[in-house]
Formats: sequence, structure tokens, C-alpha cells
Amino acid sequence: MSNVSKKELRNIITTRLSEHLAVEAPDDSPHIETLGEKLANAGVSRRSFMKYCTGLSAIMAIPASLMPKLVEAALVNLDSTLHSVVYLSFQECTGCLESLVNVFPNTKFKTDSIENILLTMLSLDYQETLMAPSGTQAEKSKADAIAKNGYILVVDGAMPVDTINNKPSGFFIQHGMTGLDLLKEAATNAAAIVSVGSCASFGGLPAAKGPNGLSPTGAVSIKTALDSFGPEYKAKPLINVSGCPPIAEVIAGTLIYWILKHKAPELDSYRRPKMFYGETVHEECYRKDFFEDGLFVESFADDGAKAGYCLLNMGCKGPTTHNACTTLKWNQGAGYPMQAGHGCLGCSEPGFWDKEAIAGKGVGFYKPLDRKTIRD
Ligand code: SF4
Ligand code: F3S
Repeated sequence: MSNVSKKELRNIITTRLSEHLAVEAPDDSPHIETLGEKLANAGVSRRSFMKYCTGLSAIMAIPASLMPKLVEAALVNLDSTLHSVVYLSFQECTGCLESLVNVFPNTKFKTDSIENILLTMLSLDYQETLMAPSGTQAEKSKADAIAKNGYILVVDGAMPVDTINNKPSGFFIQHGMTGLDLLKEAATNAAAIVSVGSCASFGGLPAAKGPNGLSPTGAVSIKTALDSFGPEYKAKPLINVSGCPPIAEVIAGTLIYWILKHKAPELDSYRRPKMFYGETVHEECYRKDFFEDGLFVESFADDGAKAGYCLLNMGCKGPTTHNACTTLKWNQGAGYPMQAGHGCLGCSEPGFWDKEAIAGKGVGFYKPLDRKTIRD
């Protein structure tokens, strides 16, 4: 997306853009480079550049009034190298991507708005939902990106595998290639693989057991799929960014960490960055005083619910769920599930659909945690 042809345009910044943005300087003042000149010096045509910015702003639903900011952000990086990212989706719902595009600036984790991240840090060379090209152009974009080394491969969604016969299950075929083939092809030259969301990290919803005790598609995590390709793939740096979906700043912060440091952050036993998954959501929950005082909501309409008591008895899985929901929060820091009156479902932990299931009664999201599993 960010590969604007520099060669074609050096000489053709149109007068309209230059005139529009140039500030006429007095004769004796130092020359201030106009936007048009900046573009021309970078070898970018007005036509390509505006097409790029317009496409990007449309994709990200950026209002026209913010276009000048977008232009400036793009200019910052005209001369630098963006880190290539290839983003593949398998069995997923697009919720992880929907979360990511709502990322907001966070100084601690060096995140920024999605438009600034795309313009100044990474080149999203393939992403089926966001990219402007389609068909053969899109495929060429991916082929060009994965022919080089060093890109980050981001994957959301679980991989359908016939676990009994240890071969592709036939549930994910894209222009004649199985999901396993597509993953292997894209992982071969990747510097790192980031599994975004609980489906990619652990199997998630597609791996939830049906009435016969099996996942209907035999879904497995991306790590399991990669391991099946052999030692070379098993050794690839892989980071799990779990959550259903993950928090936008957690996805972006993990990518940015790799881009800045060329290595994975410290990971926990599930390969999740400790900086985001090091604590349970219970530890910073604003209802924790009630938990410690033994004051619990017993029904969503009772006086305890109105008073904001602890939601443990309503099935809150906060004490066993590692995520940054109560520290980074959701929706640009607006809040988290317990602030909205609902307990944590444990969405960032392996098997969250299945492990609380009650035989014959479906998922046990409202089944209270076994107190023995809660550590102080
Ligand atoms: Fe908050 Fe849930 Fe912990 Fe209660 S059990 S304090 S609602 S995270
Ligand atoms: Fe998921 Fe629990 Fe956070 S359900 S969104 S980990 S509070």
C-alpha cells in the first residue's frame, strides 16, 4: 500500500497541489520547501500521492477535514523504509482487524493512530479487507512481499486441519490452495509470525467442540499448524496476541516492539507478551475492593449490581484471565467489560469457549469460577 512509485513522477507535481500548499515567501527570507517540492524531491507525483492518500482515507473512513494531517504524516516517511507486513486471515470473523483499526496513540507502547502507523512505520503489503488492490494485483502484491526476507507475517483465524488424518481438512481453500499451503508459503521468509486473536493463538471459537466432542473443522492454532511443517517452521519466532478480539494497542504495540527492536518482547508460557498479559484483569479491576470485602452480585438486577459489587458469582473469569483490559482499557481508554456491568469471559485464555462448558448446557460463561483456582 505504501509503495508509491517514486520514479514516474519526479517532474510532475502538478501546479495545483503546489499552488494550493505553497506559501509565498518574501524575497529575502530563507526558502521554505513547499509540500509540492517535498513530494517532487522524493520523486512522488501529485497524482499517485493523492490517489494513495484518498484511498487510504476512504479505507479508514477518515473525514476530508483530516486529509492535510494524513498528507503531512505521509510526508514524514517518504524517505524512510517501512517495515513490510503481510496479514493473512483463516477461520476468523474479522473482529481482530476491526479492533486494530481503532488503535489510538499510547506513549508507553509507542502506538499511534492506525493511519500514522500505516504511513510511518509499516507497509501493509497484503491484507484482504483493507487493501485497495484486488484479484491478480493483490496476489502480486503478496507474492512480491513474501519473495523478500524480513517481513512480519500477521495471521488471524484458526487453521482447519483434519487432525485424524493429519492433512488439510478441506474447509479453507483459496484459489486452489489450502490454508496450510498458504500459511507455509507466507511463513517461509517471514522474520516473525504474530498470531492475532484467540483463534490464531489457541484455536478459539472454530476449535470449540461440537456435540460430538470435536471441532467441526478440526481447527488448530497457527503455532500447531506451523509446527507440522517441520523444524525450520517450528523455530520461527512466534508471538501470540490473544483475545476475542485483542485490544488494538496490544496488537499494534506488539508489532511496533518487533519493528523497533527486531526481536520479540518477553513472552509468557503461552507466547504472549508479558508487558500486556503479565497480570490478570482482576488485579486492576475497579470492583476488586468488593471482591475482597466479599460483596458479590447475585443477579444482574439486584442491589449489588446497582452498587457495582464484584461479578465473580455471575461467572466473571477475571481472576484467571491475563490481559490488559483493566489497564489499557478498550475503545480509546473508555472502559472494560466489568465497568459495563458484565464479567470477564476469559477471552484471552486458551479454550475459553470450552473449558467452562457445562455438559449438555453449552458454554458456561456464567458458571462461577472454582474458588480454588483463584490466587490472591
Ligand atoms: Fe472484577 Fe471480576 Fe475480579 Fe470481581 S472477579 S474484582 S468483577 S475481575
Ligand atoms: Fe476478554 Fe475478559 Fe478482557 S472477556 S475483553 S479478557 S475483560
